[in-house]
Amino acid sequence: MNAGNDALNKPFILIVDDEFLQRLPMSEALGHGGFRVAEAENGAQAWELVQKETPDLVILDVVMPVMDGFELCRRIRREERFQHLPIVLATSLDDLASIERAYQIGVTDFITKPVNWGLLAYRVRYILRAARTSQSLAERELELLHTRMEIIRRLGQAAEYRDNETGMHIQRMSHISALLGRAVGLSAHDQELLLHAAPMHDVGKIGIPDSILLKPAKLTSDEFAIMKTHTTLGGQLLDHEPSTLLRTAHTIALTHHERWDGGGYPHGLRGEEIPLMGRLCSLADVFDALTSRRPYKPPWSVQRSVEEIQKGSGSAFEPDLVSAFIALLPEIQRIRESFPDQEPFYGDEIAEMASCGGGAR
Ligand SMILES: [Fe+2]
Ligand SMILES: [Fe+2]
Repeated sequence: MNAGNDALNKPFILIVDDEFLQRLPMSEALGHGGFRVAEAENGAQAWELVQKETPDLVILDVVMPVMDGFELCRRIRREERFQHLPIVLATSLDDLASIERAYQIGVTDFITKPVNWGLLAYRVRYILRAARTSQSLAERELELLHTRMEIIRRLGQAAEYRDNETGMHIQRMSHISALLGRAVGLSAHDQELLLHAAPMHDVGKIGIPDSILLKPAKLTSDEFAIMKTHTTLGGQLLDHEPSTLLRTAHTIALTHHERWDGGGYPHGLRGEEIPLMGRLCSLADVFDALTSRRPYKPPWSVQRSVEEIQKGSGSAFEPDLVSAFIALLPEIQRIRESFPDQEPFYGDEIAEMASCGGGAR
């Protein structure tokens, strides 16, 4: 009564071989081994079948008319939905060139011809199990990565809420930082890291009392001393993290108020003692704060803000970064247009500037 359902519960194997005398014993061996089997005589026929019902595994001959095994494999791998479909090549052991080529185009494993029919089902079961394990590991890894990114995004957002900032400042300064990073030779991987880590530069503001963080007036020197601790607080919050992303965020939180001339905080680092990620974020953060509305000033024009950054070359900022920044102004302008402030800014960033005259603190 449940024969149909039982068949559907069996792993579905597609055998692709132009020789009937190869397909027949393979099909029988796998049928007896508890698999549901379909056959195709060439790559084109197999491609049609694969699209109708995705098999759990494909066994593939190399040389076939119409479409050979390599071409079929390439076609399958081109489709995102078939990325994890195990493809097993049946080939003779001495055909090393085919085996090497097969691995390059995404074959999962191979079985040797002449095929040992008695062992075939065991071999296929083993390859299926290994493929499922690696797929579920890949899925868990992806899920972990998404969770990590989400935590990071929410941490950054929490700091923004504390600061009454719109999310746009965070977006702009992150993109400008990554753009500057590209100009000074950061790898694509490190640019991506910077883009995702920079939003947490002020995460330590979570630990600053409202009376200081939201004070609509200039801070006293005692208050400013407390304000400065948002760097070390952010550093503590993100410390001892195994992930590269959070380690980068830790570096940025700790060093985005250091100055090239050593006059910054919290550690008064000088020149290249300041990690590059921190130097990049510092310039991007200050520039965006200058061009943004603050309670104590209207947004400065781009021209005035650029002049202020240029004045800071060699004192607040690394001269090479300032040159790169000037060369990138058209692209920076495009970033500003992509992330405009939606509403007036009611933040707290008062003019107590550690770096240059009216930006970020
Ligand atoms: Fe800051
Ligand atoms: Fe900022």
